[in-house]
Amino acid sequence: PPRQVIFSGIQPTGIPHLGNYLGALKQWVDLQDSVPSETKLIYSVVDLHAITVPQDPQRLRQYKREVLATLLAIGIRPERSILFYQSSVQAHAELMWILSCTASAGYLSRMTQWKSKLSLSEDANAMDTGSKAKLKLGLFSYPVLQAADILVHRATHVPVGEDQSQHLEFARECATNFNHTYQPHLIAPQTILSPAKRVMSLQEPHLKMSKSHANPLSRILVTDSPQEIKKKVMAARTDSINSVSFDPVERPGVSNLLHLLSILDKQSRSPEELGTLHAGLNLKNFKTLVAETVAESLDGIGARYNEVMSRDDGKYLDHVEKKGAEKARESAEETMALVREAIGF
Ligand code: ADP
Ligand code: NA
Repeated sequence: PPRQVIFSGIQPTGIPHLGNYLGALKQWVDLQDSVPSETKLIYSVVDLHAITVPQDPQRLRQYKREVLATLLAIGIRPERSILFYQSSVQAHAELMWILSCTASAGYLSRMTQWKSKLSLSEDANAMDTGSKAKLKLGLFSYPVLQAADILVHRATHVPVGEDQSQHLEFARECATNFNHTYQPHLIAPQTILSPAKRVMSLQEPHLKMSKSHANPLSRILVTDSPQEIKKKVMAARTDSINSVSFDPVERPGVSNLLHLLSILDKQSRSPEELGTLHAGLNLKNFKTLVAETVAESLDGIGARYNEVMSRDDGKYLDHVEKKGAEKARESAEETMALVREAIGF
């Protein structure tokens, strides 16, 4: 069997929030110690994906650094994991083009998650001319770039949330199409499904915590200080009943906090159990407990972030990225040598 390679990426869209951390990034950290040391871990800040929507150049550069610094601050170790900016390794874009030439446009347009990102409710062909003109080709074809990200490193496993499983299926399809047309050089990756840990907005408990919500009180950033965390949790939307009980229908706010507490609970107790356990607390004391538990789970990340950002006058980050990009280029070039040869380049 081929050497195990795990690949995952994160968009440079600002400092990740608690949902990104518990739903995805913490697993990246944990994999470093839970998989055999021969398993290659490759984590990329995917800036080519970021430009599918308009970006201010200064801000994009800033966001890339912020995300890289966050990955280091949460515990990704550059000695163990390859960390790099996607645009540093040109083979990602090159393989995307090559895959585009054997991928099925019909398959792509049937993917439901992709359609929701494009705000397409119907068949792409049924779009009116105005929407078609506004739809950029890169936003249309970004799943092919995602496939290239994975296949260029011949990743055997990709940790993804439930919402991404269609994209991985498409990546497998891209590998199969290439392999049938040319030579069987690409590896169809398997999914490592992330444990379902959905963190909800502190302000609108029926919505996922997300960077796209306008109210900054709705999300906790992984770099927030204990004081900032306390401020946000104390302001979390709850109701006028000044006690604790788990009742997602009648009491969505309090139940959401119990759910968060349950995700973070070292004894893995359910929200129901925790609701019973804390039934005697008033909301102020309960929220204080939640804030302390969240702060404990993010302990030291903010301080490490500041340290990493400023180390060597900011040059440390560039140094880590440069080293990581060299390794990623090597990994990608192994695949590309085979791919180019098979095509006839
Ligand atoms: P956002 O919704 O803030 O734009 P992304 O869509 O960029 O976040 O998601 C990045 C990663 O974080 C994905 O793997 C996604 O599944 C995970 N994720 C995002 N929001 C949450 C959340 N509220 N709870 C759990 N996981 C989340
Ligand atoms: Na999202």
